[in-house]
Amino acid sequence: MWPSSDSRFLKVDGGRVYVRTFGARNPRGTLLCVHGGPGATHDYLLPLSDLGRLGYRVVFYDALGCGRSDLPAGTSLYTWEHDLLVLDQVRRSLGGGRIHLMGSSYGGMLVLAYASRHPEHLRSLNATGGLCDVAFATREMRRLVGELPARTRAVLRKYERRKEYQHPEYEEALLTFYRKHLCRLWPWPEDVQSSLVRISKPVYFTMNGPNEYTIIGNIKDIDFSSDLGRITVPTLLIHGRYDEVTPAVGDRIHRKIPGSRLHVFPRSSHTSFWEERSDYMRLVGSFLREADRSRGSG
Ligand code: ALA
Repeated sequence: MWPSSDSRFLKVDGGRVYVRTFGARNPRGTLLCVHGGPGATHDYLLPLSDLGRLGYRVVFYDALGCGRSDLPAGTSLYTWEHDLLVLDQVRRSLGGGRIHLMGSSYGGMLVLAYASRHPEHLRSLNATGGLCDVAFATREMRRLVGELPARTRAVLRKYERRKEYQHPEYEEALLTFYRKHLCRLWPWPEDVQSSLVRISKPVYFTMNGPNEYTIIGNIKDIDFSSDLGRITVPTLLIHGRYDEVTPAVGDRIHRKIPGSRLHVFPRSSHTSFWEERSDYMRLVGSFLREADRSRGSG
């Protein structure tokens, strides 16, 4: 289904990560895409390879402990800081100057933080369903849970009290939330399904928690809103109207980044690159070209 790609393993601090590249031989630029979860795989982001047709080299990788990448012993490397270090190491391996950086969800959080620390390496930034104040994003998700049918909420509450997050009845109720706020296509595209089925439990449980809206892992208190003003590159923030990381989260980020743009897709939740794929690619394609035109010395 996907155009041809090259894959390789890259040695980074803590192990080898799987890197997959699509697109032009003599690219007009590089777009590096960072997945979320934390713990998912790059597969659910593969529609972004469509942008290869515009002449971009599109690069994906699985974070440490995820997908085809190495699974380090223990969980000490499953931190936000280590993920930022690996992101930088992948970026360096690409050569060729400044890149376009894209991240989804927790990947959006990583790219926002990266851009606030290293704008000099970037041509542009796209955070799709990204967040920067985890407590606020979690409160917003809980508000959405509060809008589910009473029966579904009762099932969720029952098993959450018992901490029986793997119970089939609980998983079924959770799916009601995910079908509204994670991906509204049904059945889910195979690559979305497989990214979730193969989610790395050590990474997800250590960093996130037992499900999307119960963020009790080590990212739970992160809030770098006050750093966002340091982002000086063209920035596009994308959310779906029904996104579990709500447009209100995007709006707060948007207000902190000078000159940033916020786009809300009307029929999407958390995976607008699937849910409204052609509109998404049109929007991002013209954003990338505009950023290329306006670039300074890089
Ligand atoms: N769990 C959310 C994600 O998909 C934040 O990364």
